Amino acid sequence: MPDPNTKQAKILITRRIYPEALAILRDHADVDYNDSDNRLETAELLQRARGAAAIMTPTTQQFKTELLRTLTDLRIIANIGVGFDNVDIAAASQLGILVSNTPDVLTETTADFAFALLLATSRRIVEANRYLLEGRWTGGRIDLLAGHDVHHRTLGIVGLGRIGASVARRGRGFSMKILYHDSRRASKTLEEELAATFVSKQQLLRESDFISLHVPLMSETCKLIAEPELRQMKKTSILINTSRGAVVDEQAVLKALQEQWIAGAGLDVFEHEPQVNPELLKLGNVVLTPHIASSSEDTRREMCLMAARNILSVLDGKRPETLVNPYVWNSFGKRS
Ligand code: 8YV
Repeated sequence: MPDPNTKQAKILITRRIYPEALAILRDHADVDYNDSDNRLETAELLQRARGAAAIMTPTTQQFKTELLRTLTDLRIIANIGVGFDNVDIAAASQLGILVSNTPDVLTETTADFAFALLLATSRRIVEANRYLLEGRWTGGRIDLLAGHDVHHRTLGIVGLGRIGASVARRGRGFSMKILYHDSRRASKTLEEELAATFVSKQQLLRESDFISLHVPLMSETCKLIAEPELRQMKKTSILINTSRGAVVDEQAVLKALQEQWIAGAGLDVFEHEPQVNPELLKLGNVVLTPHIASSSEDTRREMCLMAARNILSVLDGKRPETLVNPYVWNSFGKRS
């Protein structure tokens, strides 16, 4: 049972969430709820976050060092998402602020979507749908909307973590050959299960028909796929990005698509969301979606509930399930 004193704790929820998660938080604390689909502007965030012991937020809300320094009562930022590049983790940790995320629960849903993008892009499903809706289907043609095969082709996974491995599993179901590159080699067991071959980044770029990105955004992965990488890819290859927009050099991807160094791209994430480069919108060989890879009803609800549970644990003096900076937990006493 939570300590009745926790009733007084203030929680800020920065954006609309599933009502089930809101209800359990309201049962235990004083909740300031931004009942809106718009992220809070910095000044409003600063004002509403003051005095909060916990903040629950989608990964679209940024928490930079200067802001964190002013939030002296803050004990946890509970991200609704597996990514945490929206928070300056080093600063939060130094200030004794816990940061949690929502891994696992979204793995399969996100992998489903990455594979859906792969299929949609290669088989031109969105384009074909538009073609039909526009009444342009007046007869057959031998090469009508001819796309690229997926089965028995080579799938290159960049980042063989939970989501990358799940995408590889889907690829196996389509009889694909699996290559992967990562900063660390996966276990032998996982490699065997996926029949995945560890290769250099260069080999992956040169040999893959599809490249799917599954790395977190950090300094080492920022613009991991830029002009030199795109130039090494096959002309028939397709790039899939469901990780973070800045993992690719968006300008270079645009050029590669315009000049057909690669055949297409399925992009769910962008550098300056929700803005999308208008030049990308003009291309036929792309499928663009608004950062929805984890968005199934069940998964998004569970992500909210998981973030809520992480907050309640902290308010109750217990270690949250999924901490990004667990080392802060040991020295947490100084802020409680
Ligand atoms: C969500 C995500 O769209 O998990 C992540 O890191 O980017 C997505 O699942 C987002 O976090 C919603 O808050």
